[in-house]
Amino acid sequence: MEKIKVLVVGYGNVGRGVLLSLANQADMEVVGIASRSVERVKKSVKDIPVVDINKPEEFLALKPDVAILCGGSKNDLPQQGPEMVKYLNTVDSFDNHSCIPQYHAAMDAAAKAAKHVAVISTGWDPGIFSLERTLANAFLPGARSYGFYGCSPAGGLSMGHSDALRTIKGVADARQFTHAVPEAIEKVRNGENPEFAAGDMHTRECFVVLEPGADAAAIEAEIKAMPGYFAPYKTTVNFVSQEELNSKYTGFPHDGCVVAASTTGKGNQAAVEFRCTWGSNPEATANVLVAHARAAVRMNKAGDCGAKTILDIPPKMLSPLSYEELLKKFM
Ligand SMILES: NC(=O)c1ccc[n+]([C@@H]2O[C@H](COP(=O)([O-])OP(=O)(O)OC[C@H]3O[C@@H](n4cnc5c(N)ncnc54)[C@H](OP(=O)(O)O)[C@@H]3O)[C@@H](O)[C@H]2O)c1
Repeated sequence: MEKIKVLVVGYGNVGRGVLLSLANQADMEVVGIASRSVERVKKSVKDIPVVDINKPEEFLALKPDVAILCGGSKNDLPQQGPEMVKYLNTVDSFDNHSCIPQYHAAMDAAAKAAKHVAVISTGWDPGIFSLERTLANAFLPGARSYGFYGCSPAGGLSMGHSDALRTIKGVADARQFTHAVPEAIEKVRNGENPEFAAGDMHTRECFVVLEPGADAAAIEAEIKAMPGYFAPYKTTVNFVSQEELNSKYTGFPHDGCVVAASTTGKGNQAAVEFRCTWGSNPEATANVLVAHARAAVRMNKAGDCGAKTILDIPPKMLSPLSYEELLKKFM
């Protein structure tokens, strides 16, 4: 069996996760990493070619079938996505939900012009949860689907909110954990289809390391008043030492669920629920990206091109198993 050859584009948390995931795939292999910071990446990676993202002749010489784009959604992917898909099939985890229609249009045009497949916005949300929301909506007419994050006792690490805390003057380091409100989940499970304000569904827990001499009370007030990020939520602020932050609140744990409930027939309760729990959010996201890279190559070999989301992809394309095996094992 000829292995699917993968180029990893961008070496951060997700990029590292993609390398770990590829090491576990019998039908796929990494052929190189393309990065803007070749010297930085070469210091951490010894046995894989590292090439300049701006030199297509270098990464095309590695003969990849697909590029997994691991750059950031805010600034990297809107530029790197349309550029890379000129050369290769691509997969990315663009997660700026409100901009997905525009990103889809840009990637679709570029992918069709090059006759490549571009799987966009996959991962867990957007990604797996988008599929679950779509299925719940189709199978339970009238049900609204809700996403809850941080359902486990430790909650889920929000990188965006942690970054926001670190922008505050006097904060040396910080991490923010999101918690789902259990009573809100129960309301949805009961089929109430409630109208929630943002602060009704989640609370926010902050662990903050202060710079020497910083005013704790003023920083706590500033955090709680931060519009969008913390003001709409019940927020608790815990001041900890750098040692405590490093030892107790490390890693990238996250989890969440999609819940939808309604009635069928003559008023019988019906609910759909789907849960993910990740010890490492970027590693889990990477696994989803890798499965989609398999699908992108297979779809392109079958003559397909253009931008695709998880909603366009038959599940059998994602699986390393043959269709016969899938019929036996999972049907
Ligand atoms: N859909 C989902 O469910 C989902 C879930 C999680 C994350 N995501 C998305 O995945 C994106 C990537 O997340 P991430 O955690 O991997 O971001 P990250 O660690 O900040 O990496 C993003 C890019 O920054 C560069 N970089 C990383 N570390 C660097 C360093 N020390 N110095 C200089 N440059 C560095 C790398 O590009 P170069 O190698 O080119 O320098 C890398 O590709 C996020 O923006 C998010 O949108 C999506």
